[in-house]
Amino acid sequence: MSPHSVVRNSWYVAGLSKDFPKETLSGHVIAKRPIVIWRTKDGDIAAFDDRCSHKRFPLSKGRLMPDGTLECAYHGLRYDTSGKCVMIPSHPTGPISPQAKVIGFPVKEQDGLVWIWPGDPALAEMRQPPRLPEVADDRWESIVVGPMQVPANYLLLIENLLDITHFYPLHDGNIGDIEQSKIPVEIVEEKLHGVSTVKTVRRVQGYKQPPFMADWFGYPVVDRWHTHHMMGPGLTRVELRCAPPGKLGVAAEECGYVIHHSHTPIDGTNHTWRLWVSTRSKNLTSRIAETFPAVMDEDRWALERQQRMMEYPDDGYHEVYLRSDKALLRCRKILEEMERSNRAHAAPVAVHKAA
Ligand code: FES
Ligand SMILES: [Fe+2]
Repeated sequence: MSPHSVVRNSWYVAGLSKDFPKETLSGHVIAKRPIVIWRTKDGDIAAFDDRCSHKRFPLSKGRLMPDGTLECAYHGLRYDTSGKCVMIPSHPTGPISPQAKVIGFPVKEQDGLVWIWPGDPALAEMRQPPRLPEVADDRWESIVVGPMQVPANYLLLIENLLDITHFYPLHDGNIGDIEQSKIPVEIVEEKLHGVSTVKTVRRVQGYKQPPFMADWFGYPVVDRWHTHHMMGPGLTRVELRCAPPGKLGVAAEECGYVIHHSHTPIDGTNHTWRLWVSTRSKNLTSRIAETFPAVMDEDRWALERQQRMMEYPDDGYHEVYLRSDKALLRCRKILEEMERSNRAHAAPVAVHKAA
């Protein structure tokens, strides 16, 4: 996959459910597609090509009429919730060309998130967006951090998440931990809702925690189980469990967190990053979440510079692969295969069904 490509045939987070109040239009760009999204009077989410079929004026700048149609702000064409143009002010007696319609995008709302499929709608039916069980579960305390716009291809963020050997030196001073770069890493591959995924597992026993983790969890020395799971092009799940030596698996002794990262491509060189920190305690979730704005800034700083270097031709340059790069190489292959499916399927022609 090139540092400018995006996988279109995938579910991506468009926003939180609460970001979409009823009858409010919002314009987005997801996987290089301009998309207008709104919640209808009935509470369903509608998503269509943001370009009016007349002269490409952004429909997100138009308005919703009392009958639920969307009126373009330029010459007033109105669209119903199937994407069909149903009124043209300058052709009051019709007929209306069947070309006067906008493409619809599959949408799913679950776990408090709105997911969009910017690819071939026929393929969306065979896939499900990944779940964020802890975010949806009231017994867990979750805090969302972001959204942050990162001027880099989203693959660079996924690679960053899969390879935590960058904690030192990039995050030195906050979550930097040089010792964890030495923990051996195992790779697990599995299919999830029909999508190939890759997970790194780092297990360590009698590990001397860095001060910030000893402070969060209260144990200076632990047995630890730490995973980073690319669950699809749109989501990576991180899980950390630790306990005093010999006590991993004993619920009363275990501490840890789950962090879900959503990475939604805007175009080939920009993406939107959100993360949800979940633990069993409100206080702990807040303490962990408050470290993240600074950590995310450091990652954005690195990814932006990395992306700039991608703009130069190779001219004899060769990338070096370390042991810790194994998962990201696998991840590149998976996304490359998925990206090929963009080309195998033409642009969507299906019409979004009325809610
Ligand atoms: S561009 Fe929308 S009505 Fe003309
Ligand atoms: Fe990082």
